[in-house]
Amino acid sequence: MLDISEIKTFEHDVLIVGAGGAGLTAAIEASSQGMSTGIVMKSLLGKAHTVMAEGGMAAALANVDERDHWKIHFRDTMRGGKFLNVWRMAELHAKIAPERVRLLEEWGAVFDRTKKGLINQRNFGGHRYPRLAHVGDRTGLEMIRTLQDHGIHQGIQTYMECTALELLKNENNEVCGLVCMWRETGKFIIFKAKSIVFATGGGGKAWEITSNSWEYTGDGYALAYKAGAELMDLEFTQFHPTGMVWPLSVKGILVTESVRGEGGILLNSEGKRFMFDYIPERFRSETANTKEEASKWLSGDLNARRPPELLTRDVVARAIYEEVKAGRGSKHGGVYLNIATQRSAEDIKRKLPSMYHQFKILAELDITKEPMEVGPTCHYFMGGIRVDADTTMSSIPGLFACGECAAGMHGANRLGGNSLSDLLVFGYLAGKHAIEYAKKITVHSQFDADQVTKIIRSATDILNRESGENPYLLHEKLENNMQKNVGIIRTKDDLESGIYQLEKINEAYKNVKAKGASQFNPGWHEAIGLGNLLITSEAVARAALLREESRGAHTRADFPEEQKNWLNYNIIIKKGEDGKMKLAKVERPVPNPELERIAKSSIDALEKEIVEERKQEGI
Ligand code: FUM
Repeated sequence: MLDISEIKTFEHDVLIVGAGGAGLTAAIEASSQGMSTGIVMKSLLGKAHTVMAEGGMAAALANVDERDHWKIHFRDTMRGGKFLNVWRMAELHAKIAPERVRLLEEWGAVFDRTKKGLINQRNFGGHRYPRLAHVGDRTGLEMIRTLQDHGIHQGIQTYMECTALELLKNENNEVCGLVCMWRETGKFIIFKAKSIVFATGGGGKAWEITSNSWEYTGDGYALAYKAGAELMDLEFTQFHPTGMVWPLSVKGILVTESVRGEGGILLNSEGKRFMFDYIPERFRSETANTKEEASKWLSGDLNARRPPELLTRDVVARAIYEEVKAGRGSKHGGVYLNIATQRSAEDIKRKLPSMYHQFKILAELDITKEPMEVGPTCHYFMGGIRVDADTTMSSIPGLFACGECAAGMHGANRLGGNSLSDLLVFGYLAGKHAIEYAKKITVHSQFDADQVTKIIRSATDILNRESGENPYLLHEKLENNMQKNVGIIRTKDDLESGIYQLEKINEAYKNVKAKGASQFNPGWHEAIGLGNLLITSEAVARAALLREESRGAHTRADFPEEQKNWLNYNIIIKKGEDGKMKLAKVERPVPNPELERIAKSSIDALEKEIVEERKQEGI
């Protein structure tokens, strides 16, 4: 008999799960108010997908182009997200991002500078003005370094290499704890907490080609779902247009959008700059339509229209896919990205040092002289745990979510650079509201011992059954299936076949077996993560089948256009009473009229309005 009292238990007011940019920001906020704050992470402190947002954090600081303003950032974000974003989240993000970026600077982030000594900002896809505060091409890394350094001095208790298994709830259906496992020893631990913040990132490891590393197995989505929380809009998975395609050992690793932000161009095997052929009608008036116009922009003319390589990621990824499909791909199945002809070697090494080294070391290629080979790579989930825009609380009382694991901020497609600022803004709001919630609770709730036993048994069964399915092989099947059937371009037939395959993999998973003992056992960890990936993948595939339209990152070849009617719906996913996944098409709330007006204004009208507003404020 399992004796629960033998299991080590820790208590915190606020417990954060995940130590990327969102988790660290939430933890800093929580601990700043003297609340006991713990932060649990599957990996080591500092190792997070945040570092894969290399090019910068978007905030309307207006340091490089003084016309920038929160309203324009908000408008860009809503348009990028194809108006499916939660309006209030996009508003909060655009308004709060500048002050959070400045605070990060105060905490020690060493940003690149303008000639006047201000935080420098660069161009990125879908952003009207140079808006990304950056540190060369390692901005995410600098963000993590700064937050870690700041947070660690505030007395946050860290739990590294600690895997979250399942949430605990009290008799009022409120979150009250979490069962975890030390990866090193295989021992179980229990956390009692008054509120819990999930900042667990995405689930890119369900695909064969991804920028995500081993940690990204959709843990937050799966744990929240199993506990009864609602998920939203999982069909929107972002394929970043530029991942490495060669050599195979590094396929999928990110090639930052800053290469295009600094002027890099995309070419097919015939040497054609093909993006001019893929400018969507609605972006035509804001995009350079010829090479001559695009080169004005490259020479620094702030009024020139932006090159088509800086269209939103969904558009660029699909264009690359089409070129390869038409037989105009590069030697190894991508297209060419050339910065060498656009910038001096000195500029490239100064602005893109990581890319220079990445290609030198991993592909034996000098990007100051030769083009890179690139292709789409699964990068980011726009959908996730459904949260309240202001508080970030999920549909389960006491459970909060922020960063990539939360839904709503980015709608159908995220603009590059909006992720790092999302982490700063919503990490902060999650920390703030998780404290407020915890403050109202005087004593920790009792958890149900039977529930803990069940959670532990389900983990140890993987080791204790005599024989069974190999988790690595099942994971490979899952990746092949998602890549083939739930990829960039989707159809009813492919999605149905994908769901059928998922059912078979799920069935096999019930008998998954990891060999060996519980001490640092990678096969066991793989099997546990795979369970979460399977729930996540099913949610993505089922939502993708239900949404019969193409919008943002979700492209249905059998429904190639946006459908007006679908704009009014989110897809909400919940675990049914029978244990099966339930999907519902849920009507979206009516947008705030003022926000709708801003997002739908012409750029000229909005710019005039801002000039007027500033005059009146004496700015
Ligand atoms: O391309 C990049 O540097 C990625 C940025 C992002 O995903 O926000």
